[in-house]
Parts: sequence; structure tokens; C-alpha cells
Amino acid sequence: MAGGYAVPAYNFNNLEQLQGILMGCAETRSPVILQVSGSARRYITAALLPHLVRGGVELVRSLDSPIPIALHLDHGDTFELARDCINSGFSSVMIDGSHHPFEENIRLTRQVVEYAHARGVTVEGELGVLAGIEDEVTSEVSHYTRPEEVEEFVGQTGVDSLAISIGTSHGAFKFKVKPGEEPPPLRFDILEEIARRVPGFPIVLHGASSVMPEYVDLINRYGGVMEEAVGISEDQLRRAAAGAVCKINIDSDGRLAMTAAIRQFLAEHPGEFDPRKYLGPAREALAAMVSYKNRQVLGSAGRG
Ligand code: G3H
Ligand code: 13P
Ligand code: ZN
Repeated sequence: MAGGYAVPAYNFNNLEQLQGILMGCAETRSPVILQVSGSARRYITAALLPHLVRGGVELVRSLDSPIPIALHLDHGDTFELARDCINSGFSSVMIDGSHHPFEENIRLTRQVVEYAHARGVTVEGELGVLAGIEDEVTSEVSHYTRPEEVEEFVGQTGVDSLAISIGTSHGAFKFKVKPGEEPPPLRFDILEEIARRVPGFPIVLHGASSVMPEYVDLINRYGGVMEEAVGISEDQLRRAAAGAVCKINIDSDGRLAMTAAIRQFLAEHPGEFDPRKYLGPAREALAAMVSYKNRQVLGSAGRG
């Protein structure tokens, strides 16, 4: 927060995503939070995941680029999942009780915090529900984080960081905008009120992909159908990173970068069937996207 930048939290599901993220962060000397959802952990398999990540850490050390690397559970939904991740070597977990009533969210989050802190692991909680893409504007408003709940939540749970809802949403179709229209701005008034109530406390922004048009265009040009995809503008993200937002979550932009590269490669090389031939360029595209974000949007480059 003091440096006016945000640490990137990039989601991964496989070897090439892990490599691409680490390459982009090592190249830009950026700290990085590697994050996996519960379903990503099941996809990789719980048995393989810690070894894969330890290998990734060794790879980065061998590049002579000693950036800080965290392994974080994204959107953990039960105590048991958070506990299993902590016991298998995660350095950080999110317990997302935001869909529960306030008191239940506090109870569940505190349970995870007690277990995690006793083992040197940090915890991210969440207050407020990110808007779904189908929601009407009016119902989105009622899902924003209520600043008046933040102090009590942070005080009662002991969380180390807090994800909030100020107008972002998950996925590649964040807003329904007519051609030529701008998406609605984020609710910086809510963010500023939260920062006023819990000064110095690290805030997390989920659903923060820009849905970078260059990748959407490539996907559409090479056989994909993503015409209405739209994300958060880079200016809004820069403003958030300069303030109380210390961790910015990016999954969709990585998926788009890789898919664009794979679609382009396969369209241009229809006889190719060696996975390395199309996953290699996809990995490079992801590393380039990560470098760009760290340098131009999050401001994390050179902070590792
Ligand atoms: O916020 C959710 C992340 O984008 C992870 O998505 O559950 O499909 O792995 P996932
Ligand atoms: P995006 O879908 O905008 O990349 O958000 C990712 C996220 O919040 C992961 O927790
Ligand atoms: Zn999220």
C-alpha cells in the first residue's frame, strides 16, 4: 500500500500456466501470488500440486530472480478445504463466506484464521458479493460491500486481507454495454470509505481482468465466439492499485491470452498435433501478458 502498487494474484490450472506466470513475474522482478481455486486443485490433483509449485519455485531461483512467491487458495468455501491446503504447504488461503449471512461469515472465517495463524499461514476473507453478469444494475447495488460492516468483520475474524465488492465481477462478460457505451465505473467512494474505516488494511480486488481486446479479437478472428466480452478498464485498475487495493486477482485475461495463441496457431498450422507446438506459444503469450500487466497496470514490476 505504501508503494502505491498491487501484488498480482494469477490463477493457474496447469503446467504451462504456472510456467507462463512465473516467467512473466521473474522477467519483471515482480512478487507474485500463485492462486488455485478448489476446482483447479482437483484438476491438477491435490497430490501433484505442491510438487508442481515447489518445482516452480526452484525454477525461478535457478533464473537468479529471487522474487517472493506465495501459493494461495482462491475462493475456499469450507474449513476442511482451507485446512487441507494449509497442511499441504499453501502459504495463504482465502475463505469466501460472502454468500453466508454476516454472522456465519464471521464464524467460518474466524475458524480458518485460528487454524491458519497457528501455522504461519495468512487468510483472505470476503465481504459483499461480486455482481453476476445476469444481475440488473439495481440488484448489483445491494451486493456491494457495506463499509459499516468492515471494521467489525476484520476485528472479529482477524483476517489479514479482505476482498470487497465495488463493481467488478468474475469472467469475461462483466457488463452488458451497448456499442460505443463505457462500462460503469467502479465504486471508488465505497473503497475510500472502507480505507477510512480500516486505515492501512490490505484490500483485495477480485474479478479484475481487463478482458484485453487484443486477445478477444484474435479469438474471434480464429474461430472463437466472444463478441460481447468486456472487462475493467486499466485506468480503473491503476487507480485501485494506487490506493488501498494491495492484491489484484486475474484469471480471465490469462485464459484469453492462451486461448488466442492456441486458436491462432492451430488455424495457421492445421496439420500440427504435438501439444508442445501450441502450448509453447500459449505459455509465451501468457508470460507476455503477465509482464505487461505487472509493468503497465499493477505497478508491481521491480518490487520483487
Ligand atoms: O474466481 C474464480 C477464478 O476465476 C477461478 O475459476 O473456479 O473456474 O477455477 P475456477
Ligand atoms: P477475473 O475473472 O476477472 O480474471 O477474476 C479472477 C478472480 O477474481 C479470481 O479469484
Ligand atoms: Zn475471485
